[in-house]
Amino acid sequence: MNFAELWAELLPVGRDEHTGGYRRYSWTEPDAACRAWFARTAARLGLRTDCDGNGNLWAWWDTPGNGAESALVTGSHLDSVPDGGAFDGPLGIVSAFAAIAQLRNEGFRPARPIGVAAFTEEEGARFGVACLGSRLLAGLVDPAGARDLRDQDGISLDMAMRAAGRDPALIGQDEKLLAGIGEYVELHIEQGSVLDGLGAAVGVADGIWPHGRWRLDFTGRADHAGTTRLPDRRDPMLPFAATALAARQAATDLGALATFGKVIAEPGAANAISSSVHCWLDARAPDSKVLDLVIAAVSDVAAEAAGMHGVGFELRQESFTPAVSFDPALRDRIAVVLAAAGQRAPVLPTGAGHDAGVLAARIPTAMLFVRNPTGVSHSPAEHAEPADCKAGVTALTAVLADLAGQ
Ligand code: GLV
Ligand code: MN
Ligand code: MN
Repeated sequence: MNFAELWAELLPVGRDEHTGGYRRYSWTEPDAACRAWFARTAARLGLRTDCDGNGNLWAWWDTPGNGAESALVTGSHLDSVPDGGAFDGPLGIVSAFAAIAQLRNEGFRPARPIGVAAFTEEEGARFGVACLGSRLLAGLVDPAGARDLRDQDGISLDMAMRAAGRDPALIGQDEKLLAGIGEYVELHIEQGSVLDGLGAAVGVADGIWPHGRWRLDFTGRADHAGTTRLPDRRDPMLPFAATALAARQAATDLGALATFGKVIAEPGAANAISSSVHCWLDARAPDSKVLDLVIAAVSDVAAEAAGMHGVGFELRQESFTPAVSFDPALRDRIAVVLAAAGQRAPVLPTGAGHDAGVLAARIPTAMLFVRNPTGVSHSPAEHAEPADCKAGVTALTAVLADLAGQ
């Protein structure tokens, strides 16, 4: 069993035939197919599988001394953004299984358990909270609030988990599981093209910018597009437009990133003024002070523009991840291992969020990045060359062998 075989098995699951992008949302049919693939693959490798109360999947290479030694865990996520690429998430899990297959072939005997994790709802594409599975595991999200999170069709996480045969009463912090993990190392496609510029196939993460999601609701009044005089309108689309431009301006002025990638206008008629506009701001910055300034600038413009147009306005944070610095000792050890294996692995920061960033608050974590020649991600055009994926597996294999070796 090698990377190419495993990759080919997973590739068709959840791919939209028109866009070529992936729609693997948590607790849907494609998600169930991904989970079945995970279980099948783990079984073929002789790994014990488990699903925790939060729906995160685990595959364990047990050792005779299980329980005495903390586990080394690697993995990533299988869910996608709407029309996401094939690599964001799955690359880490396929590489983890491929690395374990290679270690098994080499007759490697781990001195401590090795786990492969697939975290649920990393993208927050269905229920709005990014890294929901790892946040729940680490006790960073209130379970009752999480159960009541709703998707676009009003289906709650509680209902979705029940429909998938899981008991939502079990979600929440899992101290026992966390306490058994010594380190977490996540391999991920780079979501930028720094490695390409440096001519390196693999890199090591330095840290993650603080980032979050905010939901903005503009409430106006539906009316006829052909008969309502301009001064009589309460059109929520206008403050939204001003806010989107303000976000871009604030990001430009402050050296940050701000994006409105999801907008819902209700009721959505071409010949009617909208009754409401709901939109989501994704903002990221080099430090949290700058991020606060971006949010304040956007919020001020939104409130003022809403007032000007007689429109109601509310803003609330849906998720937030503070700045993450990955464990320096673990990062340095990985750099030494990769150098010894002849792999030059530059250290780079990222603006993208990851379960590793969430878990970093509780356990030593590290990330390996695999070169993305165009830097494009969260898009069907996301790509990594097979040779670089292979280099990623080689790097991860060396890291697992070092950290879990005798
Ligand atoms: C996850 O990919 C994120 O950075 O939003
Ligand atoms: Mn992503
Ligand atoms: Mn990802």
